Amino acid sequence: KKRIAIFASGSGSNAQRIMEHFKRSHDAEVSIVLTNNPEAYVLQRADNFEIPSHVFTRHEFYHTADVVNLLMNLQVDIIVLAGFMWLIPENLLKAFPNKIINIHPALLPKYGGKGMYGDHVHKAVLANEEEESGITIHFVNEHFDEGEIIHQSRFRINKGDDLEMIKFKGQQLEHLHYPKVVESLLKRMKSL
Ligand code: GAR
Repeated sequence: KKRIAIFASGSGSNAQRIMEHFKRSHDAEVSIVLTNNPEAYVLQRADNFEIPSHVFTRHEFYHTADVVNLLMNLQVDIIVLAGFMWLIPENLLKAFPNKIINIHPALLPKYGGKGMYGDHVHKAVLANEEEESGITIHFVNEHFDEGEIIHQSRFRINKGDDLEMIKFKGQQLEHLHYPKVVESLLKRMKSL
């Protein structure tokens, strides 16, 4: 079985969909959920699926090999960022080349970069009176929201759509596509 690690900082609704998707899979499993936030609701979600979780500090993440070692020991095949709000350090990128992916609630390269996350993205999209927005799934590199794009899908913004509506439309697409993209990437990867 291929092993998936999920990183999330908050609610974890995408993590939830991925845990659900692979729950009955014979090919892959979510092996661990990691977070920088001890209060993150994603920890509860992981518990509900009886999936182990791990909380780390800023110091551990950026100045020790703890997280890398944990993931290497688990022989993780793919690292899925699902609402994870910290930049991935170089030691982790080096240890898992082309194996770390992220989801972003906009059509990158538009509305990406530092500070562009969650509601900030949708507010900017609204303020610019965009007629469409969407989601992007991409490989992770040393910059926020850069790296090769793997998947995009888009939705229309109608007159009168408010922040909640735009957020909802984006989330629907994220929940639909993220598990499938993880699955197809795992299929493409040669076993280690
Ligand atoms: C998602 O919409 C994801 O695209 C976004 O955070 C949300 C997490 O929701 N990620 C970013 O903005 C990354 N720059 P969730 O915790 O319910 O999955």
